[in-house]
Amino acid sequence: MEKLRELEEEAYSFYKKTGMPYVVMKSAMTLDGKIATSTGDSKWVTGEQSRHHVHELRHIYDGIMVGVETAIKDRPQLTTRLPGGNGRNPVRIIADSSLRLPLDSPLLDTSNAQTWIFCTDEASIEKEKQLLKHGVRVIRTGNGRHVNLHHAMKYLGDNGIKSVLLEGGGHLNWSMLKASLVQKAVIFIAPKLLGGRNSISPISGEGFDRMGLATQLNNLSVEQFGADVCVIGYIN
Ligand SMILES: NC(=O)c1ccc[n+]([C@@H]2O[C@H](COP(=O)([O-])OP(=O)(O)OC[C@H]3O[C@@H](n4cnc5c(N)ncnc54)[C@H](OP(=O)(O)O)[C@@H]3O)[C@@H](O)[C@H]2O)c1
Repeated sequence: MEKLRELEEEAYSFYKKTGMPYVVMKSAMTLDGKIATSTGDSKWVTGEQSRHHVHELRHIYDGIMVGVETAIKDRPQLTTRLPGGNGRNPVRIIADSSLRLPLDSPLLDTSNAQTWIFCTDEASIEKEKQLLKHGVRVIRTGNGRHVNLHHAMKYLGDNGIKSVLLEGGGHLNWSMLKASLVQKAVIFIAPKLLGGRNSISPISGEGFDRMGLATQLNNLSVEQFGADVCVIGYIN
């Protein structure tokens, strides 16, 4: 509990200084660096103890963010499920440029958790109306090809979201990293080997083209959760 309080304070002090949410990129990968198979299957990479810790993190952070591909493929609820039904649900945040989220997505059940969807100005007004009926918030971020992530983070900070647990997938993680919007990485590594050149990695996109440009993690620590190892590091 003390440790969770410290994590909360770490996020709050960043928010207080910058007005922007503190973003923690969380990923769960196999030892050979895959977060899902080429068919998109990712249940489950890590064991129960790691997954329990993720729910503790969801409990302390204000928002949880995924790309629309993860929302479509995994059909996640993105809620906090701790023993005894305790736990606070973060606001669920989806980067979905053209509002592709299906209307039967579990993320549209807003009875226990809010859902905020970021899209571009070109997204369908008709689909927005349908989404609004489910009680979600739709925020347009300009006329780019993808969601303008700087705009999205500023909106979140201005609307009281002090911290965000970024849960991928690879494309969104890359864009957030490239835009320098991530402060911390929490990477769970399961002792599994998956292989597959088309399996998905924690950070994809075009990637940096020289090793010298790679994002360096600092102040590293390593924790163990059951058979999994978790590497925690800070960016900048
Ligand atoms: N093991 C794990 O920890 C873990 C965690 C999460 C996901 N996964 C797996 O990862 C897979 C999905 O990953 P993914 O890389 O294919 O997709 P993703 O990152 O979940 O979603 C990417 C999509 O987000 C939308 N998007 C909107 N604005 C964006 C922006 N500025 N930058 C990047 N994307 C933006 C884009 O679609 P539009 O252009 O239509 O908006 C883009 O195609 C799934 O198979 C899932 O199971 C595993």
